[in-house]
Amino acid sequence: MKKKWWHTKTAYQIYPKSFYDTNGDGIGDIQGIISKLDYLQELGIEILWLSPIYLSPCADQGYDVADYCRIDPQFGTMEDMDRLLAEAKKRNIAVLMDLVVNHCSDEHIWFKKALEDPDGEYGKYFYIEEIKDGKLPCNWRSYFGGSVWEPIPGTNKAYLHLFHKKQPDLNWENPKLRQEIYTMVNWWLDKGLAGFRIDAIVNIKKPLPFTDYPADREDGLCDMGQVLAHAHGIGEFLGEMRDKTFAPHNALTIGEVFNVPDEEVCDFIGENGYFSSMFDFRETVFGHSSLGWYACRRPTPDDYKRCCFESQEKSFGVGFLSNIIENHDEPRGVSHYLPGYAQNETGKKLLAAMYFMLRGLPFIYQGQELGMENHVFSSIDEIDDISTKEEYRRYLEAGLTEDEALQAVSHYSRDNARTPFQWSDEENAGFCTKTPWLPVNKNYKSINAKEQIERKDSVFRFYQKLIALRKDSRYADTIVYGQTIPVLVEEKDVMAYLRRGKGQTLLVIGNFREDEVVLNLENILQNDQLRIKEVLLDNYPENARTAWLEKENNKDWICRLGALQGMVLALE
Ligand code: GLC
Ligand code: CA
Repeated sequence: MKKKWWHTKTAYQIYPKSFYDTNGDGIGDIQGIISKLDYLQELGIEILWLSPIYLSPCADQGYDVADYCRIDPQFGTMEDMDRLLAEAKKRNIAVLMDLVVNHCSDEHIWFKKALEDPDGEYGKYFYIEEIKDGKLPCNWRSYFGGSVWEPIPGTNKAYLHLFHKKQPDLNWENPKLRQEIYTMVNWWLDKGLAGFRIDAIVNIKKPLPFTDYPADREDGLCDMGQVLAHAHGIGEFLGEMRDKTFAPHNALTIGEVFNVPDEEVCDFIGENGYFSSMFDFRETVFGHSSLGWYACRRPTPDDYKRCCFESQEKSFGVGFLSNIIENHDEPRGVSHYLPGYAQNETGKKLLAAMYFMLRGLPFIYQGQELGMENHVFSSIDEIDDISTKEEYRRYLEAGLTEDEALQAVSHYSRDNARTPFQWSDEENAGFCTKTPWLPVNKNYKSINAKEQIERKDSVFRFYQKLIALRKDSRYADTIVYGQTIPVLVEEKDVMAYLRRGKGQTLLVIGNFREDEVVLNLENILQNDQLRIKEVLLDNYPENARTAWLEKENNKDWICRLGALQGMVLALE
């Protein structure tokens, strides 16, 4: 595997609207990011991904871009952006923006022109189809609910939007549109951007011509996941984009890619893949249901570990996945993957160690390093996210009470991750001086950056150690390139794996149970004539660790892990 500049680094996702507000309007901004670069550097971050800050009416929080080459005034100016790039560079931090090119905003000039003349040049930048005998072109369901087709007033036509109706899909079949996108991408890369996280990219290839697929709900529509399984040939677009933009710039690109068949992983992230990396969403989508959030099943620790191991296996020798426990679309990882009894600092550190030590590029989502948790919503008025509102509306329609509907959307609402960053125990968690755009999580007095930085055994400090370990020249090669070998897989609620590098083996081991577990490591060690050399990291305080390891009767290595204890060990 060829070594790349980004392999040893740790990445961090910023959701700018909720990160830090410097001008008192309750909305995070670019100046806010600049002023917190030292904080990120202290944590050990070397790659930043910014969720969209382009000009946007913000129907979907900036994922509806009205102009790709302008910064939205709520976030600042292009000068601010240039300064951010320069300041980040000084600190050896590479910046990625979010590339949202499956769709744009209905307020983009291209779309405005398309509406003026649907049969003209710009009409061909989008998918505009006839409504025949009152029937829409096909029965696909938008990700945000309802049909993907929106009629164009005063015509017998409709345009396609896989997401919100303010997010019309761009027609990638049109070479002119593709060229416009490549020109824009190169413009940003020339400016000094290190690369992109690439939004919703699997959607750019539609199975054409538009046809109905079997309905999977009472609304007569069909889930997009089913639809996209029929689309073939996305590689032509992605390969072309790589060759004309990313490759010549040696850019770092992380695809938001769902449902890649195993045999295609190589096309996406192999040596000459379309992207440098893509997120591992196996854990994220585990238990999802096309029926809606109410029908989703939360993963148990064993579900979680199986998903991780499967992805590790499928990507080894092929490429690098990007590992996450949360992002701006998902519940907080600690509220999602940890059983109730484990939702404390020990459990949070355990989960951190387990995902962070996997092979791949680790991403931390803002606030994750503090152990930020899901929000407890007291009313739908506290929610801004369009997809949550749509889900809520459906539940009311299905006969649930307002309370029940709120309950049903609470766990998966995208606004769980979007509440303001908790900087301190001051008003509005130190995020802003006036009312924030989204309510602050009520737990900010106990969970905030100031307190975490001051305390030696905090979640923040633990993340800092994980990041430092990844860069420690004694272990970096194994942590970055070593193979992941699951061990003790049958042990319920225990997650354990080896990372095997050149002449070095690490053991990552964690107990998700509520009480102590006693494990015999003999089989693991014996094979390779190994013994335990050193504890590199432990989420238990040192004085509580006395009984953790012993060679019983001078025979077997027995490991006692306390409740929620997690460790990284060096073997020799
Ligand atoms: C991606 C983004 C999400 C957005 C959607 C449409 O999934 O992460 O926030 O709503 O694409 O752009
Ligand atoms: Ca602001």
